[in-house]
Amino acid sequence: MPPTAGAPSPRAASAPRLALVRTLPAVPAPRLPVLPGEGADDAALDRAFTAAAARYWHPVARSVDVRRQPRAAMLLGVPLVLWRPVASNGVSALVDQCPHRGVPLSSGTVDEDGRLRCAYHAWAFAGDGRCVEVPQQPDRRIPDVVAARRVRAAEGAGLVWACLVEAADEARARPRFPEIEDRGWPHHVGAVQDWSAQAARQVENFCDIGHFSVLHPDTFGNPRVRTVDPYPVHRDGDTVRAEYHYPAVDPLAAPGPDGRRPVGETHLRYRIELPFGVWLAGAHGPGSVMFVVSAPTTATTLRLFWMSAFDPAVHGDGPVDGAALQAVEDRIWAPDRRIVESQRPVRLFAANEVHRAFDALGVAYRRALRDLGFAPSTLPPTPTPTPTPPAPTRPTSAPRVSLVRHMR
Ligand code: FES
Ligand SMILES: [Fe+2]
Repeated sequence: MPPTAGAPSPRAASAPRLALVRTLPAVPAPRLPVLPGEGADDAALDRAFTAAAARYWHPVARSVDVRRQPRAAMLLGVPLVLWRPVASNGVSALVDQCPHRGVPLSSGTVDEDGRLRCAYHAWAFAGDGRCVEVPQQPDRRIPDVVAARRVRAAEGAGLVWACLVEAADEARARPRFPEIEDRGWPHHVGAVQDWSAQAARQVENFCDIGHFSVLHPDTFGNPRVRTVDPYPVHRDGDTVRAEYHYPAVDPLAAPGPDGRRPVGETHLRYRIELPFGVWLAGAHGPGSVMFVVSAPTTATTLRLFWMSAFDPAVHGDGPVDGAALQAVEDRIWAPDRRIVESQRPVRLFAANEVHRAFDALGVAYRRALRDLGFAPSTLPPTPTPTPTPPAPTRPTSAPRVSLVRHMR
């Protein structure tokens, strides 16, 4: 709007104030504290992370959740559409973007001939992504280049997996979980969770022995045994392995007359399937195995999948009580999620954190990820954990002594 005739111009009206400001002493800019890791080159970190992770298979959905009709998913920032071209056949995964005008194909429908039809102009796509019908020009040949981009997909262990690169660029085969895939142990596929955290942070938390007694006292954590004894860790090709004996509390048992729930030694055997899968024997006691796979939906977010399987020789052939298992696991996942989502910096390799000897598995995991290219090569190496000094000789409380003896 032009200035009203006769009214003082805004510039003239502000002149005295400007003069006043010029007389004030300059105020120095405050120096705010900078959190360790903040200000790192996040774009470079995400590029390295994404480029490395793209060479692996990751779960994108549970098999039971992918039916005939299309379903959207996300992997490393790439939107995907998952669907079953023929009801009895496998899963097809395409980049979720119609080559005609960019509409998400997941908003379309699968027709009676098992072809995915776009919601906008009803072009039809086959399972390999080729466009096989353009209803607006039914008599014209469709060039081969008219296609939605196919993404390799496979099913196993109750999950749909996808790999964004072709086989020649693949870093390793999809990890297998033999108790489910080969041995047919009764199992439960848990509810999917979306966390606002980097996948590597979640894996490290799942393998972090030192937090059990601190963060999980209302389930399996034993608040009377916080000490973590030295434990062996081995890197072996695509896996990192460790074992630990933990005096876990039974999360389902009622407290005894002393108010405590019973404690039983748990022999935990970890096998990290690099980069983001973990096989854990003993999670639910002897004869049990838990699989947790963290899928990087983006470089800084994850979708968590978990399954638990039970040796029929120990637990019988009956079905797993999935509802009860889910209820317990929900109580364990909740504090883990709260902690991991609160960690800063979000990006693991932006962190300049200290390590102690009891962090050995996490440190070995970070080293393995670096070896595989998940951190920019310009970053300094992961420091060696500080050896834990010998414990001072001091009287130890009676319950802890008896528990430790029981463990060993
Ligand atoms: S946008 Fe998909 S058919 Fe036109
Ligand atoms: Fe935990």
